[in-house]
Parts: sequence; structure tokens; C-alpha cells
Amino acid sequence: MLSETMLRRTFLKAGAILAASTAATPLRRAFAAVKPGSPRAILPINRNWRFSPRPVAGFEKAEFDDSAFQRIVVPHTNKLVPWHGFDEHETLFVSSYRRRFRLPATSKGKRVFVDFEGVLTATTVWLNGEKLGEYRGGYTPFSFELTPHLRWTGDNVLAVQVDSAEQSDIPPFGNIVDYLTFGGLYREVSLRVVEHSHLDGLFVQPVEVLSGRPGVHIQCEVTDPTADLSVEAELRDGDKVIARASAPVDPADQVQTLKMEGLDGIALWDLDTPRLYEMSVTLKRGSAIIDEDQRRFGFREAQFTPTGFVLNGRKLKLRGLNRHQTFPFAGAAMPARVQRQDALILKHQLKVNIVRTSHYPQSRHFLDCCDEIGLMVLEEIPGWQHIGDEAWKERSLDNLTRMIRRDRNHPAIILWGVRINESPDDHDFYIRTNALAHELDPSRPTGGIRTTASKEFLEDVFTMNDFVYPLEPPRHPGQLNTEFVGHTFPTKSIDNSARVTEHMVRHALIHDQLASDPAYSGGLGWCAFDYNTHANFGSGDHICYHGVSDIFREPKPAAGFYRSQCEPADEIVLEPAFHWSTGDDFEWLKQIMVCSNCESLRFYLGGELVGETGPDRTQFPHLKYPPFTIDLFKLANDTDKDLRIEGLIGGKSVISRTYSGKAVDRGFELRSDSPSLMADGADSTRVVFRVTDEFGELRPYATGAVLLDLTGPATLIGDNPFALWGGLGAVWVRAGETAGQAILTARHPTLGSRKIVIDIRPAPAEVA
Ligand code: GAL
Repeated sequence: MLSETMLRRTFLKAGAILAASTAATPLRRAFAAVKPGSPRAILPINRNWRFSPRPVAGFEKAEFDDSAFQRIVVPHTNKLVPWHGFDEHETLFVSSYRRRFRLPATSKGKRVFVDFEGVLTATTVWLNGEKLGEYRGGYTPFSFELTPHLRWTGDNVLAVQVDSAEQSDIPPFGNIVDYLTFGGLYREVSLRVVEHSHLDGLFVQPVEVLSGRPGVHIQCEVTDPTADLSVEAELRDGDKVIARASAPVDPADQVQTLKMEGLDGIALWDLDTPRLYEMSVTLKRGSAIIDEDQRRFGFREAQFTPTGFVLNGRKLKLRGLNRHQTFPFAGAAMPARVQRQDALILKHQLKVNIVRTSHYPQSRHFLDCCDEIGLMVLEEIPGWQHIGDEAWKERSLDNLTRMIRRDRNHPAIILWGVRINESPDDHDFYIRTNALAHELDPSRPTGGIRTTASKEFLEDVFTMNDFVYPLEPPRHPGQLNTEFVGHTFPTKSIDNSARVTEHMVRHALIHDQLASDPAYSGGLGWCAFDYNTHANFGSGDHICYHGVSDIFREPKPAAGFYRSQCEPADEIVLEPAFHWSTGDDFEWLKQIMVCSNCESLRFYLGGELVGETGPDRTQFPHLKYPPFTIDLFKLANDTDKDLRIEGLIGGKSVISRTYSGKAVDRGFELRSDSPSLMADGADSTRVVFRVTDEFGELRPYATGAVLLDLTGPATLIGDNPFALWGGLGAVWVRAGETAGQAILTARHPTLGSRKIVIDIRPAPAEVA
């Protein structure tokens, strides 16, 4: 295996690529399945793992008896924890995983790799007792070649030791960090069976995108290139082939380049119409197909200009949020459906146009979904404020290499973060990260997230976390504010109306200022969802309540601001920024605020119209859809009246919501994000339960221990009983490995029981 340093240096040589024998190659990814008939086989090995939450002597040996180990399915967290108030040291340990497998007979004579998509945090791998190597890094993919030690017939045993401690030589560690990483084989694992010569590192670069006749430059790597090989590329729109290109392989160069030019009828990837195409590349010897690989990509032009961000020639203010990849109970170990759900929430509920994967590369499922739904992404290397020694920096460069090689075909990604979030200056290091990013992907700009404008600016786009309001004037044209609000105003769903309203206002004011000057490209608030953190951050219960949504992904009033910034044609939004009650602290009633994209709002108390108002353009002069402000103090002297708010557009009533004045918990709801799951042992869906008033609106101070009962082929990920928080709670239902019906019953102590049925459908088998 090449050392990590050599691996990266190989890359820095112009035109050079990873050596064929490199054991740690980044993953090929785009489509999970490979076409039937292709000589390449991708064999997922996520099921049938055996796990022990400790180091076990001799566990790497093929003949080791692992019958005492637990049977688990990947994605896997080394420890399930409560959603808050736990000690993260409980997750920082060494564990042992084993997976037996048999290869299909067709594999004989080929090369076989194991591809790990992500393991927290340091991973040592053995095959049949032979040590293959170690990969130290929690957020980037790595592979080992298995070929020399394989048994072509009979059982093979993969043994994996995972050290989930916070190790100071691995980014982000070495100092304090404001988030928990958690541990385990938390992303998928597969076997890749290829011919001796095969494809790698496919990179599809659209060019001349807005010319009306765009082109594509295709770069791929051929391991062991010989003169009798050729590469062929097909550009596909669904089943239709719309262009082809081919060239003989140049044996002197492992990087092969193909070009398609003057393409007709290409549709652009854009936020409302995220059109995707597929590039399929075949490696041939004569007419025989040796290998085939595909990537999905899109045609779009994304530019940061002195007068703001431009997508496909259209000015667009970036309005976004930061996302941590962690979830309650399971840490980082959530499957595709749950990863995708976060992207759907950001796009369709929070209505943002960009997300930052703070502070590391995130799941390919999340990024795939961003491509599919039209949600732009700023992706960055792992790290938090601290830069370690030279070896640490080499690992960071390795992280950068793997991140860009994995993700450079995603049209959603518009910017690489190549500076450790909020780190001090390090001229030489950041010259290298920028050069490496440009080398690996000349098509995208770099950004580097700094805390102050005085930090050295070596990137293409000036990106800064600016938590101070009013913001500094833009230091560099096109500046992007990558974080604001966050720790300066942590807010819980159970905070009083004055605070939850102020939380919303702070987000709105920053976006208002960003809208005031074209030299700001826009901004991403801190953050989308509350997240688990270390004891020295957050509210003393291992949570930073910085989200506009809670840790269960349910909205706080500040989420209503983001949601209300969409066009009414997309959705008519009306979200009060308060909890309706007139008895507690009359002062806030003088400035009741509502987020809406309506033209005016009418307020009714007990059925009687008491006021009408337009958007508050005094406080928010630059927003297209400013929040509304009204003084209900003088009107709301009766404490027990229902509040109805009606939104109007063009003089017509288009939306209405009513909040009970009775202050009684009436309803109990149970809903799941998905009605069905695959019986692959990992597929999961969130189930939310909430207490409402008689109009179906949340009762944020409702409490009670909700008792959950799950029957059928599934398991519950979450607390049971669940003590309601902010009037609600959520757990995840994780499919087992047999098809059937899972039935979840939730019983509230006074409001009765609700039931939900989730269909668990058969899943394809894996290699035995
Ligand atoms: C920033 C940091 C984030 C988070 C945030 C809280 O300084 O980059 O990771 O800690 O503060 O507001």
C-alpha cells in the first residue's frame, strides 16, 4: 500500500493519478448498481456483520469463533445513546467487526477491493488473518485490495477493528470540538470486483454550459493502461444515448480524456428543474468490454461574482443553513432514506437554496438527493478551529483529495471549503489545500471559512462566519456569510414567546442585511438542526440548541422565517413566531410576529376581526417577504380567545390557521416520514408524535411519557417511554431483515393511543 503522503503527492504531479496498486482508492459512486452484463460487480456487504463493542484478541483470524458477537447491519453505531444528557465517552472505544463472505464463481481471476464509505474514526482491516492496513479518518471513503489473500472458493473473513476514540492526529481532533462525531461502521461497505485493468476516478466536466451548444470533458483513470485498450463514453438521457466519444488508451498516461462538443438540446440543472444526465464509460480490449462505470452529472454554471452569486446566468441570493450529519440516538449511523429526508426537509420545509455540510464531507445519499431536488451545497474538509502538526496536515490533504474525488460530479456542489473551519492562518498549508482543490477540480471555486476578515484570503470566494449584527460591510465583493446566530442566541422549542420570536428576528435581520447589498452573495445561518455536542458546549445536556429546527428535525418558529421566503406559487406560508397564550408576560403581545409570504394578514380573536397588517418593511426593508408585526396587546384583553390568522393575496383569503385560547392539550398525532421500508435491516423512517390543540396546532408545553410498542419485523431507535419535549418527540423505526408489517403504537398518558402501520418490503439479497 502506498503511504498517505505518497498517495497525495502522486496526485500533485501534473497528469499523474493514483497508482494501480493503491490499496486506498476513493470510491466510485453514482449509481449503486452496475448494469447487468458489466464485468464489474459491486456487491454490498452491509448485512451479516458480527460485532463486539471491545477489542478482541485473535478476532482477525479466519477460524476465530464469533458466535458470541452480536449480529448487526451497517450503517451501525457502536452505541445507541439517549437523545441528550449522556456521556460521549460511552461511545469512544475500540470495537471489533467481522463479516464472512463467499465470492461468486465469476470473480475468479479478477481483482477484488473492499470499499468503506465512512468509518469513525480509525480503521484497521484484515482479510483471512492477513492485515491489509489502516485508514485514519472518519468522513472520507477508503478501500483495500483483497485479491492476494482471497479464497476463491469457500469462506473469506473480513475483520475490522474500529477505534472510535478522539485521536489528536486525525481531523477534527487535537483540541476542543463543538460537535460529537460518534463511532462505528456508520456508512455502507461493498466489495468491488474488477478486471486487472479497470476504470477509476471518473470526472465529468460540463463546459460552455450557457453557449446553447455545451460540451463535456470526461476524465477517467485506467489502471495498468496498455495500448490494446480503448475507452468509450456514452452520454445518456434516461435510456437515450445522446452523444458518444471514444479514444485509444494512451499507455503512457493513466488519465484518459474524452471530449464531447456542440451538444444539442441539453437542459440545464437548476433549482426548480434539476435535470440530470448520465455518463457511462466503458473500457474495451478490442470489442470485449473490460470495465464499465457511470456517473450522474448536470449542466449548470455557478459563479460567485463581485455583484453576487449567479446560477445559469441568473442572479440568486444564497439563503441557506448549516447541517451536521448526526441524529438523536444513532449518532451518524443512519441509512439512505434518513439522509435523504434531511435534504428534503431543507428544500421543501425550510425552503433554502443552499446547505453547508459543516464541518466534513457528508453521506453520498444526502448529496445525491441534493442533486435530484435542486439544493446547492458547500462541502468542506473535516476540521474545527484546530490545525495539528505536519502529519495531521497530510491527513487533511488526504481528506480533501478523497472528498473532491468522491464528489466532483455532483452538480449540487458549487463550492469547496478548503480551510479548516475557523482555524488560524497557515499560509503554506492553505496554499497547498487551494492548489490541490484546483488540481482535482478546476471547475469549482474554493472558499475557506474564517472568523475574521483579517485572516489571510487565499481562496476564490471570501467566506466568513460573521455572528455580529449588523454585519461588517462586505470586505470582498461576492462575500458569503457562512454562519450567524448559532451560539449567540441558543433557543429551545420550549423557550417563551419573547425568545423564540427574537430567535426568528435575528435570522431575518441578517438575511435582510444580506439582501441589502449585491456584494453579499448571501448567507447560511447556524444551523438547520440542533445537534449533540461535548460537555463544554451547548446547554449542559450535550446539545447545542442552535437549530431553527430541533434535533428531531421539527421546526422552531425561526424555521418559519426560512420557510416563508419561498414564492407563494411554491407554497403559501403562514408561521407564527410565538406560542399563543395571553396570560404569560403581556409585553411580547405588543409585537406579535408572523412569518408569511402573503400580502397582508388579518387577525381574529374569538371570531372577531381585530387587526390587519402588511409585511414589516420598516424593520426588514430588503426582504422580499418580510415577517409581519402587530400589536395585539390592546386587543387581547380576554385571555381565553382563539386566535385565527388569515393570509391574503390579491385581496383574497388564501390561508388560515387557528390557535386555541383554551390552553388545553386535546389532540395526539403520530406520523411517519415514509409508509414503507425495505427489509434490509437498516432502512429506517422517522416517526413523530405531537400533542395539539383542537385545531391541530402544536402545544409546545405539553409533557407526558409516551409509551411505544412496536410489533413486526422492525426495531425501535429511540427512547421508550419517550418524555415529550416541546410537546413532541420522535423515534426511528428500523426495518428488520424479513418482510411484513411493523405496527407502532404510541400511548399518551391522557390523550389515548395512536397506531401507525409501516410496510416492510422484501429487499434484494447480499452475497452470502
Ligand atoms: C461556530 C462554529 C460552529 C458552531 C457555531 C455555534 O463558531 O463554526 O461549528 O460551533 O459556532 O454558533
